[in-house]
Amino acid sequence: MSEPRTASPGGVHAIRADITTVAADAVVNAANQHLAGGGGVDGAIHRAAGPSLMAELRERYDGCPTGGAVITGAGRLDARHVIHAVGPRWRDGEHGEPEKLRSAYRNAFALATEHGCASVTCPSISTGIYGFPIEAAAPIAIEEALSALAAPNTSLELITFVLFSEPDLAVFRRTLEARPPAS
Ligand code: APR
Repeated sequence: MSEPRTASPGGVHAIRADITTVAADAVVNAANQHLAGGGGVDGAIHRAAGPSLMAELRERYDGCPTGGAVITGAGRLDARHVIHAVGPRWRDGEHGEPEKLRSAYRNAFALATEHGCASVTCPSISTGIYGFPIEAAAPIAIEEALSALAAPNTSLELITFVLFSEPDLAVFRRTLEARPPAS
């Protein structure tokens, strides 16, 4: 397999694109507890990767709890791995949704570093079909990305949030600008 890749400069970035078109060592997917595929980014990733993704999920995993993540190969995607992270469904914010979202990102980035990934692309987990308000989700996503990059001995160098719409990109960019860069 290919060497870990980064596009310079490293750090945390936000771009607008279809995540299935952006090369990285690992692509994070916004999955569900059954790892059953679905609409949104999950559907797009499975369609672009091809059937090997679902076959591997079925063979290796019996679902994944909310806040967790599992890893597979990436099929036809220009990546080595897909990391299927399960974010929470938004109810009212009083049911542990922020903590579960944080945990989904943390577990996803931990798997990426366990597998020696340097570059990771990531959608905005939970802010589509699961209804998590993006203004509340973006700081959690970015904090976890900065903290993963700052961890000692991590393989991670570049985390790119790939947003599907201009308004979503604007929220991530604003949030990034309000934060100190990763040390
Ligand atoms: N590239 C990047 N982002 C995308 C793409 C894509 N190709 N398609 C959708 N998105 C964006 C959405 O606009 C949203 O901002 O991904 C974000 C997450 O939305 P969802 O995919 O709806 O994920 P989520 O809210 O976590 O809901 C998960 O949806 O697809 C099902 O199986 C999945 O049941 C699970 C649920």
